[in-house]
Amino acid sequence: MSNFFNYTDRLRPRIEHALIEAIPATANSQLGEAINYALTGGGKRIRPLLAFASYEAIQGHTDHSALDAVACAVEAIHAYSLVHDDLPAMDDDDLRRGRATCHIAFDEALAILAGDALQTLAFEQLANIDSVNADVKVRLIKALCAGAGHQGMVLGQAIDLAAVDNTLTLKQLENMHCCKTGALINASVTMGALVAEADDSALSALWAFSTAVGLAFQVQDDILDVTADTQTLGKTQGADAAKNKPTYVSLLGLDAARQHAARLLEEAKAAIAHLPGNTAPLHHIAQYVVERER
Ligand code: IPE
Ligand code: IPE
Ligand code: MG
Ligand code: MG
Ligand code: MG
Repeated sequence: MSNFFNYTDRLRPRIEHALIEAIPATANSQLGEAINYALTGGGKRIRPLLAFASYEAIQGHTDHSALDAVACAVEAIHAYSLVHDDLPAMDDDDLRRGRATCHIAFDEALAILAGDALQTLAFEQLANIDSVNADVKVRLIKALCAGAGHQGMVLGQAIDLAAVDNTLTLKQLENMHCCKTGALINASVTMGALVAEADDSALSALWAFSTAVGLAFQVQDDILDVTADTQTLGKTQGADAAKNKPTYVSLLGLDAARQHAARLLEEAKAAIAHLPGNTAPLHHIAQYVVERER
């Protein structure tokens, strides 16, 4: 994991700085505080890191200024998805990133509105990029729509909620995970590559990589819900079982879930064997995704 941390140490200050710069000065101070709380309260920043690493896998460096906006856009969608995921009508969680969830720290209405504002903030970030051409900008916006919306994360969340107290087949579970978590990871990687003006064959290799990593990410999230402790996780351990959520662990057991994550890691690495740039950061992130403890 030290390779991963060497990589993130270099980029994290840049990501945190871009996120702080992106926070809007709202006319309503409570709304502004709730947005700030949701966007800057820790988090591993995996999706922004994947966007940078994907660009690097094509271009060999990370110095394109549009990457900061892309990083903010994917993290803003992710932050909104967490705020809404924790609401009483969804997972009803009171702990996130080691502190009170947004609706506990503020109130439910403000948490809903902060999520709404974060969603439009993401697209505003992309629309304001001036260092890519109009065609790339439209493709970035379309990629984020596909990852975030009714074909992606939101669809996955709807499947997740409908699945409570029901048994899913492995195929249905995989589809749910690919949508609720994988789609935004697909978008993060695709957007980094679009900024790098990757060709179709590189985009499809990166799609295969991010599909495997996205699924592995949620498999590991399901594993940690069983094996980690609340303090390390920063969210309540055992929340899935308490709400009778179908997960990889509930369906297959821990060992098979771990083996599945390891297989997905190998698939991910194989998919990017022929990219032209530096693929080491993508390897480090993929490895971290299945070895992480929070
Ligand atoms: C948690 O995502 C929700 C899932 C999609 C599994 P992360 O584990 O990336 O959460 P943070 O951003 O690091 O808190
Ligand atoms: C979250 O899945 C997926 C999202 C789109 C936010 P979970 O409900 O398992 O995420 P955690 O465990 O609360 O972070
Ligand atoms: Mg959930
Ligand atoms: Mg949840
Ligand atoms: Mg979870």
